[in-house]
Amino acid sequence: MSEFRADDTEDMDITRVFEPDDGENGRDRDRERKSHRLNSCFEDLIGRKNISWEQVYNLKEILGSGGQGTVFLAERLGAFGVSFHLALKFYRPNDYRDIEIYRSEMARLAAVEMEVSQIQQDNILDIYNVVEHEGILVLATEWVDGMDLRQLVAPGVLQSLKGKVNLDRWEYINDVVMTNAGFQTRLMPSMVLGILRECLAGLSALHRREVIHADMKPSNVMVKQTGNCKIIDLGSSFFTHTPPRRPTWTWRYAPVEVLQGETHSPLSDMASLGYVMLELLSGKIPFVGVTDKDELIQLKQEMWERVDEILPADVARNSTLVEMISRMIAPDPADRFNSLEDAELADNGAAALQRQLVKVDMDTVVANEMRVFLQELQKAKNGPEAA
Ligand SMILES: Nc1ncnc2c1ncn2[C@@H]1O[C@H](COP(=O)(O)OP(=O)(O)OP(=O)(O)O)[C@@H](O)[C@H]1O
Ligand SMILES: [Mg+2]
Repeated sequence: MSEFRADDTEDMDITRVFEPDDGENGRDRDRERKSHRLNSCFEDLIGRKNISWEQVYNLKEILGSGGQGTVFLAERLGAFGVSFHLALKFYRPNDYRDIEIYRSEMARLAAVEMEVSQIQQDNILDIYNVVEHEGILVLATEWVDGMDLRQLVAPGVLQSLKGKVNLDRWEYINDVVMTNAGFQTRLMPSMVLGILRECLAGLSALHRREVIHADMKPSNVMVKQTGNCKIIDLGSSFFTHTPPRRPTWTWRYAPVEVLQGETHSPLSDMASLGYVMLELLSGKIPFVGVTDKDELIQLKQEMWERVDEILPADVARNSTLVEMISRMIAPDPADRFNSLEDAELADNGAAALQRQLVKVDMDTVVANEMRVFLQELQKAKNGPEAA
């Protein structure tokens, strides 16, 4: 018999209920009637064109609060006592002159968020729903169990592992993952490269859909328990064809052209990401103490030629890395890579740099290192000292 003839046993593919043969399967009119009624309900439900039900969320704790709103870890209650964790972001209205402006900005944002929900790229926050509740925009998204990059490099995080892991592991972490750089910690180049490549992949996917993130900064990138990265906070994002009348962005990480009044472009996201990478590599928060716009512009105009001075000596020795960061933060967008994909794929881009690290045996399985490191942090919170 041929194995490839048309299948006349399709029933074999259907998932079925198998009742236990426990002697209870005898005829019972009442049971049959109830079961019949429920089957009718089922047929009725699947025959409808729409459906609605009420949803209850418990707000468990605040995950973070920033310029645009407050984000809660929420628990969505389901049937049969089960629940599901997610994040709810409530967009604050008080920065808007009147409620109509708030409403129109939120409507614009809702459209962007819904477009992003279709992208299905692993390095972008999963968006579940936008809701308008009592006039306030509420965004339901995946909950990222992890830390944002600002939290990750904060003083004290690495230190919390000292004495909690054995000496060999402590030295390994300092050689391969991150090490103290004074005020903050700095990440090792291969770790930064791993984060960079995931952010490039996420941003490229946004840009392909003509969405600009417009607020790349350490607190808007999270590292998950799996060790992978997620770009979060699309609260400043916009479609290139409908830029916002009231843009929102962050001084420290905005590129020169935005500080000079231009609208964010894909290459502006690239420059902001470049500042973030420089910060992770150097362990230094950029432009601390600078409050004057002209001074900030001037510093950003010069910075791309000083990348090697800003980086620690051992990192600055890698000229490909220096050139890559420099091309990301060039003050004139024409001097940057042509696109985020180009920053990944060009001769001196991120993928080439990774190949170079492989050759000298300095690459790292970043997601795995990060996963183990986050696990250790969790354990160190309540665990005993290492022997
Ligand atoms: N989905 C999420 N899962 C876990 N933590 C989150 C999530 N969303 C946000 N956070 C945490 O909350 C912080 C603030 O969230 P978010 O950046 O969305 O707010 P914001 O008001 O737009 O901030 P800002 O405007 O200052 O960037 C984040 O930096 C992150 O630490
Ligand atoms: Mg944010």
